[in-house]
Amino acid sequence: MTVSSKIQILRTVQQVRQWRHQTLINNQSVGFVPTMGALHQGHCSLVAESIKENDKTIVSIFVNPSQFAPHEDLNNYPRTLDRDLEILSTEFRNKPVDAVFVPKMSEMYPNGIVLEVEKQRGTFVTVHGSSEQLEGVTRPQFFRGVATVVTKLLNIVQPTRVYFGQKDAQQCVVIRNLVKDLMIPTEVRVMPTLRESNGLAMSSRNEYLSKEMKDKSSIIYRALRKGEELFNKETKLHHKKSVESKLIISEIADLIQQDPDFEIEYIAVSHPETLEDLGEVKPGLGAVVSCAVKAPKENSNELTRLIDNIILN
Ligand code: PAJ
Repeated sequence: MTVSSKIQILRTVQQVRQWRHQTLINNQSVGFVPTMGALHQGHCSLVAESIKENDKTIVSIFVNPSQFAPHEDLNNYPRTLDRDLEILSTEFRNKPVDAVFVPKMSEMYPNGIVLEVEKQRGTFVTVHGSSEQLEGVTRPQFFRGVATVVTKLLNIVQPTRVYFGQKDAQQCVVIRNLVKDLMIPTEVRVMPTLRESNGLAMSSRNEYLSKEMKDKSSIIYRALRKGEELFNKETKLHHKKSVESKLIISEIADLIQQDPDFEIEYIAVSHPETLEDLGEVKPGLGAVVSCAVKAPKENSNELTRLIDNIILN
């Protein structure tokens, strides 16, 4: 049997339930990695961790409409299912992925789904308090869509552990709150951000960038690192008890603004668990410094949003 033929492709909720039922009978732990496809090494690092920590691993590939606003890139979001399945079947040779859930839209949203929130009907999950700031400012319906689809997926798969990337720091906080508040019996695991060799955080949206722009976009991580260096210098070298967030933010902004191709949407310094805005950062208490920066898409007048973050401690 070839490695690829071992991966089961499940298309319905019913098929996933049957698959999960078998793992329960066999007393096997299940790790689950939800994705929207266009897989890259960042996704693969989550899958690798799940394979390491669980008896069975299931990955979902579903471009979730409810987390896109009507003006966003739902229709153009990269869809590369054949390539994704190829990656999942060849990348993890020793212990392969066991199943991939690739539902149709109607399977996840049996009553249909429109992108305008006011016109939506049915049940949606809103995580108040951690969804409105940062990404939520320009994408007010984003985390409602994420929380809704992740709740559905967790109810379908009922995994022992679910894996998310630190790259989407706010998403991790929203999911942790969701799982805690709705008493979902799954452990949330958050894995470090995987980066290109130049430091650019891997992302499916990097596909929109030209080779030259991918190189230039490494400025985002370099700028975050400059903010970190400032914090480390002040606290570790000069033994300051705290550093003002605005100093860290301007250190980061100054570098990014040197390249007119980039447009800063926000740079924020927040509490790592509540995402509350922090006026200053104290060593030991920590902070997440996050940003969204717009960069020009290849062969287009449009911009794409790149997000990244770094943890200060
Ligand atoms: P997607 O963007 O496909 O990402 C799937 C998972 O991969 C997320 O947990 C994300 O944080 C993680 N990831 C992306 N880039 C990463 C990187 N460079 N390093 C490490 N992990 C990385 O996030 C979503 O999909 C969706 O919102 C989803 C949770 C699937 C709900 O629709």
